[in-house]
Amino acid sequence: MTRTGISWHVIISRRWSGGLNEGMNRMIQLDLRFAREAFRESELELLEPAVAAADAALRRRQVAGADFLGWLDLASRTLAAGTQALEEAAEAIRSEADVLVVVGIGGSYLGARAAFEFLKPQYYNQLPRSLRGGPELYFAGNHLSARGFRDLLRTLEGKRVYLNVISKSGTTTEPALAFRVLRAWLEQTAGHEAARKQIYVTTDAARGALKHLADVEGYPSFVVPDDVGGRYSVLTPVGLLPLAAIGVDIGQLLQGAAEAEQSLTDPRLAANAAYRYAAVRNVLYRKGLTTELFAYYEPALAYVAEWWKQLFGESEGKDGKGIFPASAGYTTDLHSLGQFVQEGRRNLFETVLRLTEPPCDLAIPSAPQMDDGLEYLAGRPFNWVNDQARLATQMAHASGGVPNLLVELPDMSERSLGQLFYFFELACAMSGQLMGVNAFDQPGVEAYKTNMFALLGKPGYELQQAALRAQLESAVT
Ligand code: PA5
Repeated sequence: MTRTGISWHVIISRRWSGGLNEGMNRMIQLDLRFAREAFRESELELLEPAVAAADAALRRRQVAGADFLGWLDLASRTLAAGTQALEEAAEAIRSEADVLVVVGIGGSYLGARAAFEFLKPQYYNQLPRSLRGGPELYFAGNHLSARGFRDLLRTLEGKRVYLNVISKSGTTTEPALAFRVLRAWLEQTAGHEAARKQIYVTTDAARGALKHLADVEGYPSFVVPDDVGGRYSVLTPVGLLPLAAIGVDIGQLLQGAAEAEQSLTDPRLAANAAYRYAAVRNVLYRKGLTTELFAYYEPALAYVAEWWKQLFGESEGKDGKGIFPASAGYTTDLHSLGQFVQEGRRNLFETVLRLTEPPCDLAIPSAPQMDDGLEYLAGRPFNWVNDQARLATQMAHASGGVPNLLVELPDMSERSLGQLFYFFELACAMSGQLMGVNAFDQPGVEAYKTNMFALLGKPGYELQQAALRAQLESAVT
């Protein structure tokens, strides 16, 4: 109670305070109530044989891209093999570093960032070390902005910096250039010998420029498995090393994914929420709903949405097919995109992510003197208000012709996030099968690279450069 008699309270997150994860036995749920008018159950039943066949083909590793199915049982295999080397390296970083900079892009970036934003407090880097429990964490190598580098280097000034450079191919332009900048800075400020101990590399076991450099310099190294593609790699050292270094319980993350592995083996749509999600998407897609909006009501999910967009975008968007993956952070985007979603072109459906049990709550203070018409909410918890906004929006969008699929995640623990990663990976693999595409390659990302290398003057690209220059000139005249 305050002096004015206003009663309000904050319930601190159990995770922050080290309490028990009560949600550990709960699994992800799929609620299709607000999509019912868009499809009939019989349409799903018609897909059962295709889903069963695709499931069998996936499990037998007899699909296009079968060399990249290592993620299917990655979590359980990793738990069985143990993560000791990784945890030791993470502990060395955690105890020595003021700052960890993770250098990577795409699949070598988004999973770790998603988990970081989801599991750690919003203003993690601004918290005192004692509350953070690990080094500050920044991401680099995901853009080509000089201003971005300037700002990062200013932030690193005077701090003990460790780098984790992540690139499966070892040749991707953005992280390779960022590594040049950061390595030069680190060697200049800490010295060559110290820098060698402060640079951790995650790359291919045998190939690539980064692997070669790591061998020459003796950088501590971890391997991206051959059979796991970038966008499916968050539960390999790609995600696990930086996350462990900031104190994420990677055992729980893997445990959650392993539980999802075990609970999503039945191919029947009634028994497998990931396949049911994939099947409903496929039915909606065939009806012309070609954009899927991933909507969330918790800002910490913004990078889960980015990870999800890469997963589905790169996996499905090929051969002239695919559902365009977009995202919206509500309620913020109800004030920008909301009009379009409610009344714009009807080629949309939404997948809404709801947290059944958010990590903390806050009661709305009473303030009758403010005359803002909100006193009727005094004493109500924010989570309840947020959930009513979610419900109201789902109902409005569904009645406006935007089918709403609801994915319910138990809580914001490592375990639930592990489940979520696996849920969407499996759904995406099934979706690719139903759509008739190889969900594990990304041939289309080469086109811009070829043009970029040509325009940058990379040796070997002279002919392409001449052709592009001629094309540019004729476009101008
Ligand atoms: O999913 C993918 O394959 C891509 O997004 C890659 O992860 C991304 O291009 C980075 O590649 P690399 O890890 O080889 O640097």
